[in-house]
This record gives sequence, C-alpha cells and structure tokens, in this order.
Amino acid sequence: MAFTLLFVCLSFLPIISSYLLSYGGAVDNVLPPPLLGNTEFDIPALYVFGDSYVDAGNNNFIPTKSRANYFPYGIDFGGAPTGRATNGRTVVDFIAHVTGLPFPPPMLGMSKAGRKKTLTGVNYGSAGSGILHSPPIAEQLFGHVLSFEEQVSLFKNTIMDLKDQFDCAESFGFYLSKSLFFIHIGSNDLGLFWDLGRQSIGVEKYPKLLSEELSKQLQALYQLGARKFFVNNVSPLGCLPFNINKVKPKTPCFEELNRRISTYNLLLPGLLADLESSLPESKFILGDLFKLFEDVYASPRTYGFRNIKDSCCIDVNRNGTGPCAPNLEPCLDRETHVFFDPFHISERMHFIWARTSLKSWASKM
Ligand SMILES: *[C@@H]1O[C@H](CO)[C@@H](O)[C@H](O)[C@H]1NC(C)=O
Repeated sequence: MAFTLLFVCLSFLPIISSYLLSYGGAVDNVLPPPLLGNTEFDIPALYVFGDSYVDAGNNNFIPTKSRANYFPYGIDFGGAPTGRATNGRTVVDFIAHVTGLPFPPPMLGMSKAGRKKTLTGVNYGSAGSGILHSPPIAEQLFGHVLSFEEQVSLFKNTIMDLKDQFDCAESFGFYLSKSLFFIHIGSNDLGLFWDLGRQSIGVEKYPKLLSEELSKQLQALYQLGARKFFVNNVSPLGCLPFNINKVKPKTPCFEELNRRISTYNLLLPGLLADLESSLPESKFILGDLFKLFEDVYASPRTYGFRNIKDSCCIDVNRNGTGPCAPNLEPCLDRETHVFFDPFHISERMHFIWARTSLKSWASKM
C-alpha cells in the first residue's frame, strides 16, 4: 500500500524520511538490547488515551482535584512535578523513548502553534477518568475530568490542527496508520465509579456496558484514521495499597474487586479480535496488564521488587488510603516498590510495563 501511495502523493516522501530518522535510534540504554533484541519500531507518533496511569499533566489545566502536580510526585523526573501520578516517567514516556519519540505532551498544555506542528504524538490522558463519564458524585468530589469520549473528541481537534502539515489525504492517512494508539482506561470505571453511583447498572451488565462503550470509542478512533491500537486491560486493583488498607481483606487482596475486573478483562480479547477482523488494515493488540501484575506478585524479586503492597510516599491520611501528602520526603527505595502512592505504580513498575508492552507489540507485528 505504501508504494501505491508514492505514485499518487509526492508529499509522502519527506514525511517518511523523517520517521526513518526518528526510528534509527530505536533501542538504547533505557531498555537494554537483550530484552528487545534488534526490534526497530517504525512509529512516527504515539497518541495516548487514558487515566492517571498515563496522564502527563492534562488535569493541571482543568478544574479538578485529581492532580499530581506537587512534590513528591515527579521526584525522579528531574525533581519536577508534572502531573504524572508517579515518581518519574510513565509507561508511555518509556515507549516514546525507545521508539525515538519525545514524551507525548499533554494536549491541554500545548500552545496553539504547538498543536499545529507536533507530529510525534499527543497525550490526552486525564487522571480520574473512565470509559464512562464520571458519575455525579465523582464530579462533585473531584471535579470534571476528561472521559474517554472527550479525549477522542480532543484527538479530532488534533486531526484538524495537523491537516495542513500534509499535502494530501493519503500522506496524512499513511502517517496516522503508522502511529501507535496506546490506551489505558477502565480502572476508574471498575475501581471507583462503581462505588460512586454506578451499582444501579447491575454487576452482570456493567462489564458488558464498559466493553461496548470502549468498542464504540475505538471505532471512532479508527474512523478518524487510527489503525494500530495497543489496548491495556485493567490491573488487579484489589491489590492496590488503597484497597488493602481500606477494605482490610482477609486475603492478600480485595478479591471481590479483582473478580469484577476479571469479568471485564475476559471480554477484551474477543472484542479486540472482532474489531481487527471487521476494520480493514487495523491491528488491535491487547496489553495484558492484569497478567503482568500477577507475574510480578508471584515473583517480585525477579522484577527487582521488595515491596508489593505499601505506598512509597506518605499519604495525606497517614493510613495508606489517600494521595501523597505534599512536601514530605517519600521512601528512598523507590526502585524496589511496585507502588509510589496508594493508587499508583512507581516509575520502576511503569518501566516493566513498557518493556512488556514493547515485547508483545514486537511479537505481534
Ligand atoms: C484513614 O484516615 C482517614 C483520615 O483520618 C479516615 O477518614 C479514614 O477512615 C481512615 N481509614 C482507615 C481504613 O483507617
């Protein structure tokens, strides 16, 4: 397909050579070569959608309390809080780095000029968001955040902004078709919104509803030109320090929540396979984050962890149930903690997630 486009669209040439330059430096010291072999990732741009596990600062620009823009967040990100709900870089920062791209900037923090010329990807993630819109109680408690649908709608603005960079629809289409769409959404729907007013939907219907809405938004992205999707499932949130400390389950994790999550996760492989077979030229890869957590919990030392259940930072409630308290020094052994705060993973866990994602992406391309 690439070669037929060459003949109809001359502006295609300068664009492809710029990706060739950017993917040249594919694998470097961030992820040591033996882990990824000689894989080269030919991705011109990384577009990111999701919640606090990927938000890089969008929530700093909207009136919400769901923000990680103060110390100790960012302590390992050059010491500067950015809005990332972790101590350092996130999974998408690592993926961008390995694919030779800059960290995708938060859309809402970009200037008008930046939005028109940034061809390497954008981050639409919004902490506290879900596949569904926040229920009214969550809006009252935390303020408005960008639901998946709103994030997709912002991507539509990006499409309008970038159109002028391309001389013809084919070259723009080719660029979008090579770009990676990384999605981490659903955790708040299952772990938070359920308890804040969505129980009326019914425990049997809820996972199905979530998967249908997810599918709708993935199709909307496809209609806008996205072709390569990496869709993460939901991690075992019943094992978050928050749930362990709040629910105080007799088992190591709060299993009722993990079961609800598994029910949803079980729907994803079929959903993604159906989308891939019905949408021409598409690729939908499942990121099995639930399984990665299981592997980490089964043998933490293999992954370099010594603590799989405690928050590294001191939280506002002092009992492991709130976000980090501002301006208190977090633990020193951040590299060996799975969690940085009671809800969010450490940079080290983000790194492992990125490594696993890239491996599974490389094996399925
Ligand atoms: C944790 O502390 C907060 C604030 O003091 C309190 O409201 C909450 O009930 C405590 N939770 C548990 C499980 O101890």
